[in-house]
Parts: sequence; structure tokens; C-alpha cells
Amino acid sequence: MPRHAEPAAVHDSLVLEPRDVQFDWSALPLHWIPDEPMATHTINVLHLLLPEGERWFVKVFKDALPLITDEQLREEVLGFIGQEAIHAEAHQEVLDHLLAQGLDPRPYVRQISWLFRRVLGDKPGLTAAQRHENTIERVAFVAAIEHFTAFLGNWALNSPGLDRAGADPTMLDLLRWHGAEEVEHRSVAFDLMVHFDPGYLRRLRGMLVSGPLLVHLWVRGTRFMLAADPTLKGSVRPTWREARQIARRGLLPEPARMFRSALRYFLPGYHPTKEGSSSQALAYLATSPAARAAGS
Ligand SMILES: [Fe+2]
Ligand SMILES: [Fe+2]
Repeated sequence: MPRHAEPAAVHDSLVLEPRDVQFDWSALPLHWIPDEPMATHTINVLHLLLPEGERWFVKVFKDALPLITDEQLREEVLGFIGQEAIHAEAHQEVLDHLLAQGLDPRPYVRQISWLFRRVLGDKPGLTAAQRHENTIERVAFVAAIEHFTAFLGNWALNSPGLDRAGADPTMLDLLRWHGAEEVEHRSVAFDLMVHFDPGYLRRLRGMLVSGPLLVHLWVRGTRFMLAADPTLKGSVRPTWREARQIARRGLLPEPARMFRSALRYFLPGYHPTKEGSSSQALAYLATSPAARAAGS
């Protein structure tokens, strides 16, 4: 899996554009990786988290827009907002399909909605200075989460195990289209955070809050999906051991690799462009059935 990026020119010349993709979920099986309910539902947690999470990204970045004093960064933030808004809606459609198949995701999604709207949403009664500070702090949370979305995007683009296991091609295209755009825009949130506050403490705090929270939500989400699946009736209980075995079959990222990746975020010389490959992301987007249909 590429970790070190290509020449900076490839990344620097990118113009972020939203691709207005459509997916047809009518033929998606409940276990879209055949006979792999735990791998399927661990990845399905993306659909639980991302609609609310990415709408929150959009809200935070819209709040940040008036504070940006660099025109090029402002353009990148606008591109980021456009891409994340489409990602949220694409994953929402999968949730609607799961509900139609008898797996009701709404109890978990309500908790996620509460988290992003109430806990991480606007705080009433703040002064202008406090609002400004709160916006920058939330940008730092987004920057840390974007480290993980780029990691997962890079993994999705380099996961032949999913193809070998016969995973549904439309779901693979959703994961890889989204993953490729995450790799494509992986430096925007980080650069925005540094634009507002180049200090190391802000970066540190963003990851120390977002990393454990994300792991917690993922574990809870996987347990929820396996319990809510009407065909399993609680018969599959997720464990870290099982997750590692599934990862060895190439159907999930290795937890240890993800942990090491999170640690790299703390290196003083870290920059998102050192992870993943923009060229590979663009190459996938040039062949993605959904992205090609959106561009035609
Ligand atoms: Fe996204
Ligand atoms: Fe993103």
C-alpha cells in the first residue's frame, strides 16, 4: 500500500471538484461480502457515521470560510465542502437500503446525530472570540479525522482481498470513489488547521480527542450492526482477534497498521501528503463507473 507520496507537483496541481455520483442499491445483498457478515458490517459502520459526520464537516468548514485569508486555501476548502456534501448523501442512500432490507440503523444513527449536533455542534451564548476559537478547535478535530479517512481511502484503493472475496462491485465502487476523493483532498483540513494555528498542541489535542472517539464509535457500530442484522439474530459477536483474522484475509485494514498510522500524525514533520498517492486516487477516479457516469 503506497505510504509515501509522488512528487508534490501532482498534489499541488489538483483542483478539487465534486463528482455528482449516483449508485443503484436495488440489487445489493445484505452481506455484500459473501459469507462475511462481520467484515461487511464493520465496513458498514462507515454508512452509520458518515452522513452525520460529513454534514458536520461541511458545517464546520462553512463556519471557517470567513476566517480564511489565503485565496488558494479558500478554493480548496470550497472543493472539500462540495465533495463531503456528496459523500454524506451517497452513504445516506445505503442506510435507506439497509432499512428496506429489515436492518434498522436508526437507533444508532440517532446517537451519532446527537453527538455531532449537540455535543460537537454550535454552542449557544458564546462571544465572537469564543466562537472563533471553537471553530478552529473543530477544524483540528476534522483534520485528525481526515487522517483516518485518508488512511481508509488508501486502504480501499489497495484492497484486492475484497475483489477476491466477491464483494458487491457497486459497493466497492462507492468505497473506492469515496476513498479516492479522501486521498485527493487529504491535506485540506490539516492545511486549514495550520493556517489558523500552526501550534503543535492544537494538532495533538485534535488527534487525542478524535482517535479514541472514532475507535469507540466503530466498535459500538460494529456490535450494533451485527445485533440488528435480522439474519444473524446476535449469533456473531465481534472480537479484536476476529478482526485481525479478517484483516489477514484482506477484508479489513490491519488494526495495528491503523494504530501506527495514527501515531505518525504526532510526528513534528507530519503532513498528509506523505501518506497515500494522489496519482493513484486520480487513476481510480478516471475509471470509477460512478465517477465516469457523473462526468459524462
Ligand atoms: Fe468524505
Ligand atoms: Fe474527507
